[in-house]
Amino acid sequence: MSMKLPFFKNRKTKVTKEERELDNIPKHVAIIMDGNGRWAKKRGLPRIAGHKEGMDVVKRVAKTAANCHVEILTLYAFSTENWQRPKSEVDYILGLPKEFLHIYLPELIDNNVKIETIGNFDVLPDHTKEAINYAKEKTKDNDGLLLNFALNYGSRFEIIQAIRQVITDMDSSGLSLDKLDEHLFSQYLYTTGLTDPDLLIRTSGEQRLSNFLLWQSAYSEFWFTDVLWPDFTEETFMNALHDYQQRKRRYGGI
Ligand code: IPE
Ligand code: IPE
Ligand code: MG
Repeated sequence: MSMKLPFFKNRKTKVTKEERELDNIPKHVAIIMDGNGRWAKKRGLPRIAGHKEGMDVVKRVAKTAANCHVEILTLYAFSTENWQRPKSEVDYILGLPKEFLHIYLPELIDNNVKIETIGNFDVLPDHTKEAINYAKEKTKDNDGLLLNFALNYGSRFEIIQAIRQVITDMDSSGLSLDKLDEHLFSQYLYTTGLTDPDLLIRTSGEQRLSNFLLWQSAYSEFWFTDVLWPDFTEETFMNALHDYQQRKRRYGGI
């Protein structure tokens, strides 16, 4: 049997590399937060009630992740494919960042959390962009948990825009094709500067990536649960971390 996870509550200093490696805690956890609609349906509620409930779970999971010294928590909040949903649902989901930050930003600031996003940001509604830009500005110097929202994110779009930028740089800044390797290419992705996710969680029983972090999850450990996102608790998160601690990552070696 393995040891129980250390759980340093309210620790002010960042975990050292040595400490994390000793306990095999994932540095970057990514979550596909799925099942809000089914959660609402089970209760005879409109789908948006599931999204609302899911918003509060985000805050709780961010807190748990920070307490466990996860450095980066990337949450899939809205995909490039989610625009296909009814406009009323899309509008509701894209209104949630503002609501979330209105309620929780002070507490996130107190807890040294830094807010970032990945995805095609420019085409989001102005009120969504303004709320997020304000939060990014307010938290830019924080060096605790990086709470990274994938918003209007799609991996295929991300890769295409990276290729376009590479070609532009070849034309205009003299970038040569021989210089293009995996390391350089990854700097053209939204996740530039971030390590790849160590652990990728998907809730609601679905076992697919749905266009999430295709490049970055090449060697991620996957963890699936039938739990619907609004029912996801600190304990579910700890179970995922605990399972991760038992995994042996080989990266193609032996
Ligand atoms: C995930 O829950 C949230 C978003 C995709 C925005 P869903 O809305 O996909 O819920 P289900 O999968 O229909 O239950
Ligand atoms: C993935 O969930 C996107 C988010 C969680 C934001 P979906 O519910 O959109 O994925 P599919 O359609 O079941 O693959
Ligand atoms: Mg879904």
